[in-house]
Amino acid sequence: TWAAVVAGPPDPILGVSEAFKADKDPRKINLGVGAYRDGNGKPYVLPSVKKAEEIVDGSKPDKEYLPITGLAEFTKNAALLAYGSESEPLKQGAVSITQSISGTGALRIGAAFLARHYPHAKVVYLPVPTWGNHIPIFQDSGLEVRGYRYFKKETVGLDFEGLKADLQAAPEHAIVLLHACAHNPTGIDPTEAQWAEISDIVKEKKLFPFFDMAYQGFASGNTVKDAFAVRHFISQGHQIALSQSFAKNMGLYGERVGAFSLTAADPEEKARVDSQLKIIIRPMYSNPPLHGARIANTILSTPELYTQWESEVKGMADRIISMREKLYNSLQNDLKTPGEWGHIKSQIGMFSFTGLTAPQTKVLAEKAHIYMTSNGRISMAGLNASNIDYFAESVDAAVRG
Ligand code: LMR
Repeated sequence: TWAAVVAGPPDPILGVSEAFKADKDPRKINLGVGAYRDGNGKPYVLPSVKKAEEIVDGSKPDKEYLPITGLAEFTKNAALLAYGSESEPLKQGAVSITQSISGTGALRIGAAFLARHYPHAKVVYLPVPTWGNHIPIFQDSGLEVRGYRYFKKETVGLDFEGLKADLQAAPEHAIVLLHACAHNPTGIDPTEAQWAEISDIVKEKKLFPFFDMAYQGFASGNTVKDAFAVRHFISQGHQIALSQSFAKNMGLYGERVGAFSLTAADPEEKARVDSQLKIIIRPMYSNPPLHGARIANTILSTPELYTQWESEVKGMADRIISMREKLYNSLQNDLKTPGEWGHIKSQIGMFSFTGLTAPQTKVLAEKAHIYMTSNGRISMAGLNASNIDYFAESVDAAVRG
């Protein structure tokens, strides 16, 4: 029956974890998938998450089905985290929101909703480069995927002129995917002034902004600052789509906790959108999982836990920043590795887009047992005091060839 099925390639990101697992060398390092590791290279369960879990378990909760759109308390608090309590559409009751299977699930619900209900041409513009999974998520949902310039190789920075030109040239009403903060894979975000310009172009060209906010808190260590782009667009009167993930900022990776929201014109429109979101979700997976949403909601709704969580997010962001400093110093100053490495310090969030080439990443995997995606992205969180010197020396050797 499956004689005609051809073997597909491994996933560009999760496939790296498989290769890492198969490697038996004790020096091996996984810098592929964006999952936080502590100073000892171990997965990190946030203390606020442990406390929230105790509170949830102590309440002896049932295991009933959640409604199709998930735990209402959780989605209410997730919306507050993203939009802020001063948000006009929230105050008016015009935000339609559903729990989702983390960020990927949120994007998929959003793409499916747009494919079915967006009244204009179903074309979506993604930054080049973008998170690898964005492309198949939108394609598999039936949208036409195009790119807008984002990364400038020469400056290892934002190609702001290219970005503006491409959005100006996009057809009216095209959908544009924007990384709200901590752009994946480049670690380069627009400044607040640049976001304001992007918002103006989006308005002038009647583009539809779809924000992916997978790293709220991870860019600056501050959840409000990281929500700037989303809140600015809302303040400018845009209607937006928003995908939220709690995988990174609460370390709830495998719990799959996220949310998808759409701002509607008014509560009546919101109610109609709500009904159609349910119709999209029900045949996909019926209703979302309970446990992670209860944990996230307990953190978001308990003031002491919320404060503790915010400081833990900052702690993760700060450890990554200290690794950036150390790696930069090793490559630029100690080893004098050919090239300019300032971008390692200036990039933000979970990743550094190192500039290493695909052949160099291959050499690093084969010779040094160091794994990263072939576009040269490294998850900074995979570095720690015990492996950073070995990593820097291996990069130095790979660059010198
Ligand atoms: C990543 O980019 O590494 C993360 O978002 C994890 C994933 O699912 O790809």
